[in-house]
Amino acid sequence: MNNNYIEKFEKMRIAGRLAAETLDMITGFIKPGISTNQIDQLCYDYIKNNGGHSAPLFYRGYTKSLCTSLNHVVCHGIPSDRLLNEGDCLNIDVTAIVNGYHGDTSRMFTVGKIPIKAQNLIDTTYESMMRAIKILKPGIKLGDIGSEIQAYVEDKGFSVVRDFCGHGISNTFHEKPNILHYGKKNTGLELKPGMTFTIEPMINSGKYDVKVLNDGWTAVTKDKSLSAQFEHTIGITENGYEIFTESVKGYIKPPYN
Ligand code: MF3
Ligand code: CO
Ligand code: CO
Repeated sequence: MNNNYIEKFEKMRIAGRLAAETLDMITGFIKPGISTNQIDQLCYDYIKNNGGHSAPLFYRGYTKSLCTSLNHVVCHGIPSDRLLNEGDCLNIDVTAIVNGYHGDTSRMFTVGKIPIKAQNLIDTTYESMMRAIKILKPGIKLGDIGSEIQAYVEDKGFSVVRDFCGHGISNTFHEKPNILHYGKKNTGLELKPGMTFTIEPMINSGKYDVKVLNDGWTAVTKDKSLSAQFEHTIGITENGYEIFTESVKGYIKPPYN
């Protein structure tokens, strides 16, 4: 990694901000009766009207502009005519491209009242991501990230999905290195200033096993247990890190009101 990453970071900041603002925009619409297709359309329009475009659209044959993963869907849920109901837990995962650079972020949303165990899962997932982000600085290893997440999550009695991971991201959507959300301290690649990647733990209330449905995309928990995910795009600086996808409105985790 060369040390001339100032311009790359400026582009990552712009793309990341648009992705975060898209989630901010959609927050007020997450109510019983809206369909995940309507969510997709609103976000598609917002991104387009603000100088970007949606990375998932036509990515490897995907035909929607974002992912909507409901309840036991782990990731890559495809928007449909399914209406949101009271009690649903939904992940919306937005990836915006601006001037060729990508901002990739997801948050959980809850519809009305949800069970306490679901709220615990969501809180644990968010906290595991933030704990991993807070240790980031040059010199630590990729295994430190996974270890931080895994230790926190397993202590709460939940499990870390193995089959999907975070990824390098910049002028391509998914690039090296893979960022595993489980692992051993002091193993793997050493972090260097200028690296840009996502941390996006998928955490299950039951076992970590996942299967992909016949649509080729939708990943669900094998045991039908609830799954949660948050995602930030970050960059490694000289002394620490920068989060490119923080909410502009100060939204952290649900409930947002
Ligand atoms: N946004 C997802 C990620 O975090 C990738 C979605 S790819 C898609 O990496 F094609 F399913 F949209
Ligand atoms: Co991602
Ligand atoms: Co994503």
